[in-house]
Amino acid sequence: MDDLIKQAADVLRNAQHVVCTTGAGVSAESGVSTFRDAETGHWAKFNPEDLASQRGFAANPGLVWRWYMERLYGSTVVARPNPGHDALAQLEKIVSKFTLVTQNVDTLHEQAGSTNVIHLHGNIGHFYCNACRTDYELRDEDRSADTPPLCPVCTGMIRPGVVWFGEQLPTAEINRAWEAAESCDVILVVGTSGVVYPAAHIPFLAKEHGARIIDVNPDHDTIASIADLFLQGPSGEILPQVLATMADGIIS
Ligand code: APR
Repeated sequence: MDDLIKQAADVLRNAQHVVCTTGAGVSAESGVSTFRDAETGHWAKFNPEDLASQRGFAANPGLVWRWYMERLYGSTVVARPNPGHDALAQLEKIVSKFTLVTQNVDTLHEQAGSTNVIHLHGNIGHFYCNACRTDYELRDEDRSADTPPLCPVCTGMIRPGVVWFGEQLPTAEINRAWEAAESCDVILVVGTSGVVYPAAHIPFLAKEHGARIIDVNPDHDTIASIADLFLQGPSGEILPQVLATMADGIIS
């Protein structure tokens, strides 16, 4: 692995434009559960697509609301950036051009100091009306409510500002991510199973345009098979080693 770490450090150090695309795995070491690793407890018997969708919300708005409140206050709000987030914030300062595209709905990248962050799937801390789309400021009493609060404008149900299955991704963010993938010379893929499109297309798009792929994941995910460098392990351990090796290279 040391040789792979060194190779990755060399590739990143000499890159003109690095795109980093992250998934739930980069937040795993912050205690935020991923989607397809077996969830523990009450939520294990539910399929995220039955919860994160208009169909699921219409069928059982109370269950969906409780799932988001548990994710938001059970882990996302209390979570803190881990060394993997910190390493990516440091990488942004070192390389000449850096774009971070995340599928994550937490703000751990921003809390770690990353600035140019594109959220493809929205932000779990934002809320709006599912009917009239009016923004909504969550109240303390909403956290423990069994059903979603109602919109003060139209009495529609309030929902989290995340992209649900079957919904369009935000156009501006998708265009920025596609432009970055088409123009980068290195793409760093961190902590994603690479199974949910269109986000999963980003590494393939970058490779089509000549970029080298570095994949960081404890498991052999879909991207590992097309990666130029596959660094197998948790990002909270791997990424700091890559950054430390890059710093050594700059000093010597
Ligand atoms: N470091 C790096 N990767 C990790 C770690 C870790 N410590 N722990 C787990 N992983 C990897 C897993 O091996 C897996 O490949 O993170 C990946 C998480 O995959 P998913 O749970 O599928 O999460 P993600 O790829 O972000 O899902 C994409 O699916 O449910 C939708 O909208 C949701 O944005 C999400 C999308």
